Amino acid sequence: MPWQKQKPLFIVFEGGEGSGKTTQTTLLFQRLKRLGRQVKYNDEPGSTSAGFKIRNILLGSQGELDPLSEFLLFESDRSLDYKQNIIPFLQGGFDIIQDRNFGSTFAYQGYGRGLIKTHEKIMKIVDETVRQKYYPDIIFLLDGNPAQLMRRIKKATSFEKEKIAFHNLVRKGFLSQARADRKHWIILDATKSQQTLHEKIWQTVSGLF
Ligand code: TYD
Repeated sequence: MPWQKQKPLFIVFEGGEGSGKTTQTTLLFQRLKRLGRQVKYNDEPGSTSAGFKIRNILLGSQGELDPLSEFLLFESDRSLDYKQNIIPFLQGGFDIIQDRNFGSTFAYQGYGRGLIKTHEKIMKIVDETVRQKYYPDIIFLLDGNPAQLMRRIKKATSFEKEKIAFHNLVRKGFLSQARADRKHWIILDATKSQQTLHEKIWQTVSGLF
């Protein structure tokens, strides 16, 4: 089967709160599996055992963390994630379907918290070091107006409780990354139906084979 012989794919989904990443990662994961491919679903933060503890600090800190410590904690989580969940599986021939990655850090900590203004260079160096130069084949951005998308959320975490101005900055951060790297990022309208979005995503992914 030609589907099974291809090199492993590293596909990332990014987007703000309520953008439907979980639905789309799941649909793509299942479709690749049905084709007989080896696929690993993974998300950040918190997919390793130490990373799970870091996630609890990040999502439960009640505003105690400053932007730099928040950034460093997300990168610590990512470092563990690459070492334990991403690199060994790509090397073992698995496709990775990843819910959030560096795009979220640059959008939330960079733009949302404003760290990009003062620490852009250091953010890039730390992030590239953590990812050991591994880079996704495709990054799907599920984009939409935060005020509209956030109505879909049932139980809010500390990030989701941030004011709408914060989420507008996060959106700006995602869009500016996507526009700067059209080769890897694909912007999708998150308000479209689940099936329409999945078919668009599938068109792109099947084009990689
Ligand atoms: P989570 O409950 O996993 O939400 P989601 O389903 O939206 O991914 O919470 C993760 C939160 O952490 C989410 O609000 C986005 C935020 N985040 C950052 O601020 N920076 C990052 O680098 C990452 C990976 C996530």
